[in-house]
Amino acid sequence: MSTATIDFGPVPVIWRRRHLLGLEDLSAEELTLILDKAEVFKQAAADGQRKVPLLSGKTCVNLFFENSTRTKSSFTLAARRLGADTLDFSASTSSLSKGETFIDTAKNIEAMGIDLVVVRHRTPGTPQLLAQNLSCGVINAGDGPHEHPTQGLLDIMTIRQRKGRLAGLTVALVGDIAHSRTARSNIWGLKKLGANVIVCGPSTLVSPRWEELGVEYSYSLDEILPRVDVLNLLRIQFERQNTRPFPSIREYAHLYAMNRERLAAAKPDVLILAPGPINRGVEVTPEVADGPQSAILEQVTNGVAVRMAVIWLILGR
Ligand code: CP
Repeated sequence: MSTATIDFGPVPVIWRRRHLLGLEDLSAEELTLILDKAEVFKQAAADGQRKVPLLSGKTCVNLFFENSTRTKSSFTLAARRLGADTLDFSASTSSLSKGETFIDTAKNIEAMGIDLVVVRHRTPGTPQLLAQNLSCGVINAGDGPHEHPTQGLLDIMTIRQRKGRLAGLTVALVGDIAHSRTARSNIWGLKKLGANVIVCGPSTLVSPRWEELGVEYSYSLDEILPRVDVLNLLRIQFERQNTRPFPSIREYAHLYAMNRERLAAAKPDVLILAPGPINRGVEVTPEVADGPQSAILEQVTNGVAVRMAVIWLILGR
């Protein structure tokens, strides 16, 4: 364990943003800056320097209007490890039930002396709305099917760490592409950093229109499998669907679950990712999810470092 204290230096001048609303607007330089800083925070933690009090005196609030295990805990830990205070807002026990509007609620929370709002909401554009109405920083922790930028960043960080590069890799996003904010953030980030992206799933969840985003589309996992370097297995988001997009979960698993047989047909060093929560036996079988090619829990570890980097870049100047 190293005892030397890492000097994080000032926030680099290329970072001028007060918010992180999505990866669509970020340049390759900004994406690389976040990934590089996340690596520094991760290494510091590995060296025993988990707590890096660069933001003492700052306060971050989690405004989550949808459930979360990973993202909310990870943002709380990231802020605390940076020395910031954290506040958790519970929508179900708040005065929203008494008729207070969403914006009034957010403004009242901000009036308590908040520097950063981390928001998750089922409605696309909610983080943008907050950024227009509040003076503090805003980070999008998932807005409906639109974007989940820190998930995209932690996925990309995990790929870069495991593969040593991004440019030229072929990354397949498999599953519920239509309703996936993770898919969109991955596409924006990966394309800017030089990777090729394939979106793959049933024709009810993937369409030729995805080519407009500069990606390839496929309905057959077995066809694309031999040429992919990374598989990111997305959950079927039944909570965002009005009708079932396929006859049965069993049929979906038959065509798209990553299992032992499909692993044998893939490249020997194929990397398995999943943003979580995973549904074992649906998009991935336990032997693959828990196997040596899976980096599913490493993604979660990287999530803390990515969120430390993003919070520090926004509040650290
Ligand atoms: N991947 C992800 O966003 O997980 P949570 O819904 O648990 O935050």
